[in-house]
Formats: sequence, C-alpha cells, structure tokens
Amino acid sequence: MTESPTSLPDYLESLRRFHDEAAGAIAAASDRDAVEAVRAKYLGRAHGWLKDLSAMLGKLPGADRGTAGKAFNEARLKVEAALEARQSAFAPARAIGTIADPTMPARERWQGALHPVTKVVDEICEVFRELGFTIALGPEAESEWYNFTGLNFPADHPAMELHDTLYLENGGLLRTHTSPVQLRTLQRYAPPLRVLAPGNVYRRDFFDATHAPMFMQLEGLAVDEGISFADLKATLSHFARRIYGNTRRTRFGPSYFPFTEPSAQMDVEVDLGDGRGLRWMEIMGCGLVHPAVLESAGVDSQKYTGWAFGMGPARIAMSRHGVPDLRLLYDGDVRFLGQFA
Ligand code: DAH
Repeated sequence: MTESPTSLPDYLESLRRFHDEAAGAIAAASDRDAVEAVRAKYLGRAHGWLKDLSAMLGKLPGADRGTAGKAFNEARLKVEAALEARQSAFAPARAIGTIADPTMPARERWQGALHPVTKVVDEICEVFRELGFTIALGPEAESEWYNFTGLNFPADHPAMELHDTLYLENGGLLRTHTSPVQLRTLQRYAPPLRVLAPGNVYRRDFFDATHAPMFMQLEGLAVDEGISFADLKATLSHFARRIYGNTRRTRFGPSYFPFTEPSAQMDVEVDLGDGRGLRWMEIMGCGLVHPAVLESAGVDSQKYTGWAFGMGPARIAMSRHGVPDLRLLYDGDVRFLGQFA
C-alpha cells in the first residue's frame, strides 16, 4: 500500500481489498503454520496491512473518520474470526492423527512390588528383631566342613552323596541349608548370641509342587547359659502367633537332624484351596543345638546350650495365602504375583 486514499469511498475500497486478500490467503493456508504466517502478514503489528490502514485513517477528513473507523474494526474482526476458524479446522485432525488417539484406554501405571516370599522374610526378620535377634549372613558357596562335618553329619551320611548336593570344581559345594551360618557365627562371636540368617540354598531336587532346586531358608540360633527346650517352644509359638494369628493351629513333633538333640519339627494347619481341605504342613525343623556342633565351633558345651531352627519362607507364604503349588511363587508370572502386591 503505497498510495494514501484521500476519500471515504477509497478507504472503504482499501478495507475491502484487505479483507478479500486476507480471506483468500486464509483459505489457501494448508496447515497451522501457514495460518500463522497469514496472521503475521495481515494482522501483525510491525509490517501488516493493519498498520497501514490505521495510519490512513488519521488522514481522512474528520467527518468521515467515525464511519471509516467502524468499518476498519469490522474488517479486522472478520479477518481474525476467519483465522481462528481456519486454525481450529486443523487442530483436531492433528490431535487425532499425529499426537494421540484420545479413544485409547489409559495406560496403566506400572508399579513394582516386593515378592511375597521376600515380604514373608522381612516380616519374620521383624518378629525376631523385636526379640533381640540380629541378622547374620554366610556364603552360598561353602566348604564341606561348614555344610556337613562341623554340623555333626557322620562321614557316610546320605545327604552328602554326590547326587544330593551340587559340588563345585574347587572342591566346595553350594550350601544345602543355612545351618553353616550357625558355625560361622559361633566362631566369630562369643555367646550370648541370637542371630537370624536368611539366604538361598541349593539341592539337587526336582522342581515340583513342594520342592525347588534353589530356595530360601531362614536359620535361627540362640546360644546362652541355661537355654532349654522351653525357650525354643515359647519363642517359636510366639513367632507362629505373630505370622498366622492367634487362632491358627500349630504343633511340634519329633524329628531328626544330626546337628540338634533333641530335634523337632513345627507344623501348621493349612487349607491350600486345592480341595483337600485342612491338613498339617511342616514349616520348619528345630531343636537344641547338639553339643558336638558347639564344640566344633570352639564353644564350651558344658557352659553353654542353645536352640536353633531352619524354616522355608516359601512354605510359610504358601500356608499363609493358600498357594497350592510352590512353582507359582517362583515362575515369575506377574498376574499371579500381583495379587500380593
Ligand atoms: N538345616 C535343616 C534343613 O535344611 C533345617 C534345620 C533343622 C535347621 C533343624 C536347624 C534346625 O537349625 O535346628 O533341613
């Protein structure tokens, strides 16, 4: 726009040209960026038509300015409305086509959780922590002495046979139970002591509803002067009440382990939801620590006595939640495990 119109009709003609040109450009704009370019050209403050037209307004005869000003505002509003309409025509297409499908179901938040067996281990540790037990750990690759000999296994005990144990090339073996931690603790700390030793153990077992070649165990050991079977029974009964509640039935029965004398087992009454109804399930072995075990760790068995237990937290998780098959806990299927999150 180089020439300045001198009369109202000329000015109105300029407005009409402004509007028609802008409308044509808006209709031709094929995406949001093109619409924005048209907006800058016709309505932009710095270089636009609008600036020229409002400058011209000031040069018209005073009597015509009211009419011209009103027409100016109308033309500007019409162009603005056309720009908005064109812009919104692109908006939904963009949202659906390239950003997201708003009809898609929301993605569920992925939330990790502790494994039910880990949770049981944590809970049991807490129950015994309250009773003054501390956590002790030992290696999973053990020597034959810690796993068997020092625990009073006779040299020809069937548990030591090649087919029952996973031996390593260096002559060591993968521990078959957490009981070696008893010896390691007694060698390291002087009684009185109370420890809890959670950890993985390995056996050359098949993977079936009640066995796994690798599983968790929780070992407990209390050694002091004058400890008796009554301490064992009282502590383990307290443990059972805390984990299963006051109404669940538990019982002790006789058993045999080379490293305890006398030896016992604790059973809990369970319904695993498999149609077989209530029955007894063994959850741990226990007993008074055999004097030979104390002696092999360098503890005076005339002065000190102790009690110990070894339990399977997976069995405790099964008996608590009514899980009929151990493999469900170890398969890693989150559809099953998610129920305990
Ligand atoms: N170590 C035994 C096992 O794996 C479990 C056990 C029994 C541990 C009696 C003990 C105990 O400490 O006193 O079968």
